[in-house]
Amino acid sequence: MMERSLQTELLDELPADDPRAVGSRRDLRRINALMGNARHMARAVSAVTPQAAPRRIVDLGAGDGDFVLRWVHRIPSLAPGTEVLLVDRQDAADARVLTALNDRGFRTHQVSADGLAWLRSQPAQAGTWVLANLFLHHFPPERLRELLQAIAAKAELFCACEPRRGWWPLAASRMLRLIGANAVTRHDAVVSVRAGFQDGELSALWPADSGWRLQEQRAGLFSHLFLAQRV
Ligand SMILES: C[S@@+](CC[C@H](N)C(=O)[O-])C[C@H]1O[C@@H](n2cnc3c(N)ncnc32)[C@H](O)[C@@H]1O
Repeated sequence: MMERSLQTELLDELPADDPRAVGSRRDLRRINALMGNARHMARAVSAVTPQAAPRRIVDLGAGDGDFVLRWVHRIPSLAPGTEVLLVDRQDAADARVLTALNDRGFRTHQVSADGLAWLRSQPAQAGTWVLANLFLHHFPPERLRELLQAIAAKAELFCACEPRRGWWPLAASRMLRLIGANAVTRHDAVVSVRAGFQDGELSALWPADSGWRLQEQRAGLFSHLFLAQRV
């Protein structure tokens, strides 16, 4: 049993335009592809809402936005005019990603803010879905409980993919030199797996008795998937 442990990630400390951060965000695109996170999350959401029609999609810790772009490509039922909000503490959204989302007819906004503070400042809006990819593992348990509470207060559906905490994902995170990942990515990947999740750890932190259907499971070789749907 590997205990969950948190350490600062280098990408969180570097300015968004630092070449090491830019390189690491590029590595993250390949890591997301290897983990299959957009695919896992699209499949999970489509299984519970085949005719998906949210009015607003919020991606917490969106980074450069490439993840949400890949995710929306996999959900063809999303209507033009749907709002897509990329929320990140860093100003890291890629202009090409924003253009691609707008070209698909979405109303795209970049929000530079702390995810939890921003959520708390928002009025609840019907039709809001919240996504988080490789984001929840940044939070220690009590803060994570607060974040999940804030999400439950504002969303109709929440889906997250995180590193699975386990020996195999840890071993794989130590091999990222093989795909040419830079030093920031190699450091953060190991830290992220140690801060990742397993079993029902996220469900245990989700607000109890709140009228939600929860799913939490392994996804692919390296990921841990959580889905909460208001019933
Ligand atoms: C590992 S990256 C993942 C980025 C993106 N979701 C992806 O899949 O490529 C984590 C992101 O969370 C952001 N982040 C970390 N803590 C945050 C917070 N408290 N509020 C908002 N964003 C945060 C970081 O700036 C970073 O872009």
